[in-house]
Amino acid sequence: MCGIMGYIGSKNASEVIINGLARLEYRGYDSAGIALTNKDLYINKKAGKISNLRSELDFSELAPYNTGIGHTRWATHGIPSDLNAHPHSDCKNEIAVVHNGIIENHSAIRQILQKYDHDIKSETDSEVIIHLIEYYYERYSLAEAVMKAVVRLEGTYGLIVISKREPEKLIAARNGSPLLVGIGDNEMIISSDASAIIEHTRKVIYLKDREVFEIKRDNFMAFDLEKGLVDREIEEIDWNIEAIEKQGYDYFMLKEIFEQPETISNGFRGRTVQDYGMIRLDGLRLSEEELNEINRIIFIACGTSWHAGLIGEYLIEEYARIPVEVEYASEFRYRKPILRRGDLVIVISQSGETADTLAALKEAKSKGIKVLSICNVVGSTITRESDGGVYIHAGPEIGVASTKAFTSQVTVLILLSLFLARRRDMNSEEIKVYIEHLLAIPEKVSQILSNNDYIRDIAEIYKDKSNFLYLGRGINFPVALEGALKLKEISYIHAEGYPAAEMKHGPIALIDENMPVVFIAPRDEIYSKVLSNMEEVKARKGKIIAIANQGDNDIKEYADHIIYVPPVRKMLSPLITVIPLQLLAYHVAVMKGCNVDQPRNLAKSVTVE
Ligand code: G6P
Repeated sequence: MCGIMGYIGSKNASEVIINGLARLEYRGYDSAGIALTNKDLYINKKAGKISNLRSELDFSELAPYNTGIGHTRWATHGIPSDLNAHPHSDCKNEIAVVHNGIIENHSAIRQILQKYDHDIKSETDSEVIIHLIEYYYERYSLAEAVMKAVVRLEGTYGLIVISKREPEKLIAARNGSPLLVGIGDNEMIISSDASAIIEHTRKVIYLKDREVFEIKRDNFMAFDLEKGLVDREIEEIDWNIEAIEKQGYDYFMLKEIFEQPETISNGFRGRTVQDYGMIRLDGLRLSEEELNEINRIIFIACGTSWHAGLIGEYLIEEYARIPVEVEYASEFRYRKPILRRGDLVIVISQSGETADTLAALKEAKSKGIKVLSICNVVGSTITRESDGGVYIHAGPEIGVASTKAFTSQVTVLILLSLFLARRRDMNSEEIKVYIEHLLAIPEKVSQILSNNDYIRDIAEIYKDKSNFLYLGRGINFPVALEGALKLKEISYIHAEGYPAAEMKHGPIALIDENMPVVFIAPRDEIYSKVLSNMEEVKARKGKIIAIANQGDNDIKEYADHIIYVPPVRKMLSPLITVIPLQLLAYHVAVMKGCNVDQPRNLAKSVTVE
């Protein structure tokens, strides 16, 4: 995990770096630090959030520094503390590094370096990197020393190094952790993701694994550790800075919840041809033959993206009649998975950088299986490693708890299920009807959002409860899981999601007058069964909050509170039913005084195992 930043140009490097780190804070916020150089090396680092570090800095005093690096940390090795914060420097205080990733052989390197009298002060795996570079820097240039050092590292790294001996350059290296260089006008900005670069330039280069860049303010050289000097092409970022500002909302999460009518539209825009009942997913890059040969689909993901995968399972099995399995990426990679001809693996990831998902992708590819991806971040590692895929086009998601990316993932999975169904049993007339209904979803999501105040009132009633149960059936069971995950992630209230009928095999023991139970109960073919489950909760004095369809009066008899949502086709139901659950979790967390966008111990993009 962690976010890293580098700057070289003519501006005050400390300001550029601190502002950039603030954009990367979703990647971790256990500590922050900067290192600046011209003729000397200035380092300042502090445990806690970037605001803590910012208040320590006198920017006008630091104005002469035009070269620097910065780091915001999500702790893996060593507690969050000033000492363990990055940047780390060498014994002579001449060079400094910021690092994102994990060095697996750090203990072995540490022991060797200590034999050479290196004074390694912190408990981090990262500090050994700078001492290793120091070792080579006695005989080589900074770029050469970094290249010599990184070949000794096992594990993952995105790193940037500066030196007071060569203050006119930054050295960046990548293996497994994202890193890109923004090419500005006589300035260069390096960052873990584009959000910290976009205000300076749209021209970027994504570093590839095992590449080292020597970067000056007006040019750069790229080296592949095996091939030597390589040519790299410049790409253009196609979104703008407004996409990552809060625009008047108290939190990014709320802004992102309210963006969903638009982001869902972006997910299907240009991909449906209603007149012909056709779905276009050009990025799949599968031949007719490959499409016809699919015997099984395996979705692999983590967290919220895994919940989207579960919805994908319901969709594809029911509509395209292809068997589907859904795997946790972290389990899949270590389980000797059985993969055969005819299998298609689809990884789902908002960030496109989740380490477990990436490793699972590589595992599947190594067995000769085609791997597609459903991702949000354009140019992310997973999108580049996969054979094809579909972007969800949700725009930057900053709140750690995923909201709009989830509904966009589900939108793309709906399209995918229709696309595959069309090649099997479903005719174009049926597809036309589904397309028509899908196109009406954004308006229906807006209607639910206009009930925000009512949902806040319900949150007020239940905010002090210590446990919640979320129950749903069929395609709404994963929505129950997602609702529970949202609440626990941001409000720290224990919440569990269950298939409603499974309740009687365990969770029912927990139900008493203190247990709120959120039922997702649209009027579908298992509605009456869900009512029976409500009956069971009521009999034990549990409090029922029901997500039900407008016009459903029967439910009044069972539920203490009803959040009405517009009725939609079953296939589209998760896009609708999840919205009140996101708002409920949001309001509870705000009322409890939690930092909604940056919940404790979590990070947006988990680039470590
Ligand atoms: C982290 C985030 C979750 C996210 C999961 C998967 O745990 O906190 O919100 O769902 O990673 O991330 P991805 O970027 O692969 O979808």
